[in-house]
Formats: sequence, C-alpha cells, structure tokens
Amino acid sequence: PGRVRVHHLKNMKERGERITMLTAYDAVTARIFDEAGIDTLLVGDSISDNMLGYSSTIPVTVDEMIPAVRAVSRATQRALVIADLPFGSYEASPQQAHATAVRMLKEAGAHAVKFEGGAHLAGHVELLTRAGIPVVGHLGFTPQSENVLGGKRVQGRGEQAEILVEDAIALQDAGAIMVVLEMVPAPLAERISEVLSIPTIGIGAGNACDGQVLVWTDMAGMTNWSPRFAKQFGQVGAELYAAARAYKYEVGEGSFPAAEHSYQE
Ligand code: KIV
Ligand code: NA
Repeated sequence: PGRVRVHHLKNMKERGERITMLTAYDAVTARIFDEAGIDTLLVGDSISDNMLGYSSTIPVTVDEMIPAVRAVSRATQRALVIADLPFGSYEASPQQAHATAVRMLKEAGAHAVKFEGGAHLAGHVELLTRAGIPVVGHLGFTPQSENVLGGKRVQGRGEQAEILVEDAIALQDAGAIMVVLEMVPAPLAERISEVLSIPTIGIGAGNACDGQVLVWTDMAGMTNWSPRFAKQFGQVGAELYAAARAYKYEVGEGSFPAAEHSYQE
C-alpha cells in the first residue's frame, strides 16, 4: 500500500477520517500494529517507564531510544514512524534539537520527530522543518515537565485555555505537521482541532480530535494500572500470564515436549 506520508494525514483530516497512532518500542509489536493498519507508530519516550523499568520518562537517553526506533522502522512497511526526543536532548536550542532529530532519521530510520512544548519552541520547529525533518508537537500535559506541572494533571483549564490555543497555532505556523493534545478538556481540544488545519491527535482529550493515540501496553491491557483515558481493548497481559503458567505446568508434569515436538533421529 505504500508508506503513510505527511500529506496523507492532512488529507485524512480534510476528509474527516480519523487518524490512529499507537506507541511501539520493538519489531514484534510494530509489525502487528503495522499489519493492523495503524497509521502512525510513535516510539515514545514512554519506553522509559513502560519498557526499561525507569519510574518516569526523565531518565531515558537518545542512545537508549535509537535501537527501539530502528527496530520499529525496520519492522514496518506502511506506518509513519515518529521518534520522541527525550528529556534533555532538544530543549536548549534549535541546534540541539536538530542534532538529535538528525540521529533519529539518519541512524534509526524515523520519518518524523516529536517533542514537548509550545510557542517557546517555535524556532526549534522552524529549523527542523526547513532542514527536512517533520515535527509533531505535544501540548497539554507534557510528562517531561511533570516536576514543573505538579504531577499528572489536566491542562488548559480556565484562563490557561487561551495560552494552549496560542501554543497550538504557533506550532502550526512554525511548520509542525501534527499536534498531540494530552489531558486537556474535550471542548478545548475540539476548539483547537477546528482552529488548526493540521491534525490534532488526542490522548485524554475527548472525541473531537482528528485522531487518537494510546500507549500500546495500556491499550492492550498489559498493565494493572492505567489512566482514565486509556481503555483496555484487550487482555494481553492476562493471556501472556496464562501462557507462561501453562508452559510451566506442562514442563513440570512432563507433558511438554510431546512426541510431535521432538526429533526421533
Ligand atoms: O511517549 C509517549 O507515549 C507519548 C504519547 C502518550 C503521546 O508521548
Ligand atoms: Na512522549
């Protein structure tokens, strides 16, 4: 079918077709999501707490993310692959963002990058876009700033709403191809989606965004804990547990491997 490209996503918004995004961190899951027709795969810095055992997104490094981005890029044929720029790898200057983003495309095969922040990063978005690197914005609750924001809280309430709208417009004007809206009131996300000509991708941002994203482990029911906005579309964790238990049992009682799993000569 060919690779999903930036202009396809914009066309989808214009046609009112919802865009799907999931996180992916390895080739095994990326291949499944790609075959399932998920339009865009995000190698999120959520790899930090979801896969690497850290307690937040803060510790993960570019060097730790590159192999994951490479695996997802190699395993997909259709999905547009977006690499998150992790904490500390882009904020200081547009040049720093450019250097990190170049690694994500050149060394790891990503098609676009994403980083957190609004109007103050317009210069970053502009430089990368001019350099040929599509940028996805991320507004609302931005996990890398959780120490400033005071925890995982809904953003854009009250007079904060106008700032969020301005941030979204600033990112679009700077050349961003899409904006993720995380944990913002549904009516505000709807308004931003109407104001912008580029697609909005919601997570905890209601049903009026141009697309949706979920962390795949939340989506598939791999974890006991998941936030209000993360519907479990499967119980993969329970299935995997059951498979491991059945394997342990059959090895323990000696029924596995049976004759058909063995070589007789
Ligand atoms: O890292 C991540 O998983 C994300 C999504 C939740 C948007 O940034
Ligand atoms: Na992220």
